[in-house]
Amino acid sequence: MGSLPPSRPRFSQLPEAAPNPKTRISLRRFAGHVAHEEHLSHVRIVHLTDQHFGRVTPHLVQQSAIDLTNAQEPDLVVITGDFVCHSQAYLDELQQCLALLNAPAIGVLGNHDHWSGAQAVRKALHRAGVLVLDNANTVITLRRQQLQVVGLDDAYTGHADAEKATKGLRHDLPTIGLSHIAEEADHLWECGVPLVFSGHTHAGQVTLARMHEVLLGRIIGHKYVHGLYGSRQRAPAASSKGAVYVGAGIGAAVVPLRLGERAQREVAVFELGATAGAPWEHHAEQPALKGRAPSERTKARRRKQLERKKRKHEAAE
Ligand SMILES: [Fe+2]
Repeated sequence: MGSLPPSRPRFSQLPEAAPNPKTRISLRRFAGHVAHEEHLSHVRIVHLTDQHFGRVTPHLVQQSAIDLTNAQEPDLVVITGDFVCHSQAYLDELQQCLALLNAPAIGVLGNHDHWSGAQAVRKALHRAGVLVLDNANTVITLRRQQLQVVGLDDAYTGHADAEKATKGLRHDLPTIGLSHIAEEADHLWECGVPLVFSGHTHAGQVTLARMHEVLLGRIIGHKYVHGLYGSRQRAPAASSKGAVYVGAGIGAAVVPLRLGERAQREVAVFELGATAGAPWEHHAEQPALKGRAPSERTKARRRKQLERKKRKHEAAE
C-alpha cells in the first residue's frame, strides 16, 4: 500500500450531524468487516438508500441528504435502490441532486425503480454520473487502494442473480455488496462478499415499541429490518458468514411519517479499515429475526404486479 493522500478529519473526529429540524436526517457511523481491516486504511463509504424522488419526499430533504453526504468527505457513495417513487416525473430532480455528490457513486435498482421504468431510471443515473451495477461487479481505486463492489439487481421483482453478480469475483480483494433486499446477503456471503448494504424496509418508518420488528419481521417475514446484522468477524469467532446493513432510507413511497429514533431518515457512514466495535459506532450487530422466505405464490403475485405496472407506464408514454 502506498502513502495515503494528505489528511482529512479522522472518522471519529468528524462533527456529529447538526440535524436540520425540518429534515431530521440522522447520521449513523460504523466500521467495516475485519476483511476490510486487513486490506484497507480509512476508506470512507457513505450509504444512501430509498431516496424515492417524487411527490411524497420534499426537495429540501433530498438536498439535505446530499449535503450531509458530502460533509462526510466520502471516498465512495453507495446507493441501494428505490431512487424513484411511482413515476418518471422526478427523474430530472434525481439527476440534478445526485450530480452534486462530490465522490464516485455506485448503485443498484429497487422494486420502485423497476415498477416505474428501470431503463429510464438507469439513464437518469448515468447522466448523474452514478454507475449502476445490474448483477455485476467492478473494482475501483479509492485513496490508492482497490475495493471490489458487487451489485445485485432487485430481488423483490425477481431480477436478482447472485451467480451472475459474482461471476469472476476476485477473492484477493476487499469487497462490499449492494442489494436492495437485505435477505439476499445470505447468498452474497456464500459467494465471498463479507459486507452487504441494503434498504427497502425504511426501518418500518415507525419503530416505537419495536413495532417495525413486529410488522416487517413477523408479519411480512423480513430477517433484517433496520441496522447492522450478522458478524464482521471471521470464523470461528463469527456468528454468521457476513454482515448486512439495512439503511432506514431518505424518502417514502406513501406517507412520510417516521416515528422513533431508529425510524429517522438516515445517512450511514462506514469507515472500511476501522476496527468493528469502536465506541463511536451507532449500534452493535444484531441477531437476525426469524424471517420467512417469500412463497411461490407471493413471487407469482409480485411478477404480475410488475407486469401490470409496466403496462401502465407503457400506456402512459
Ligand atoms: Fe423503498
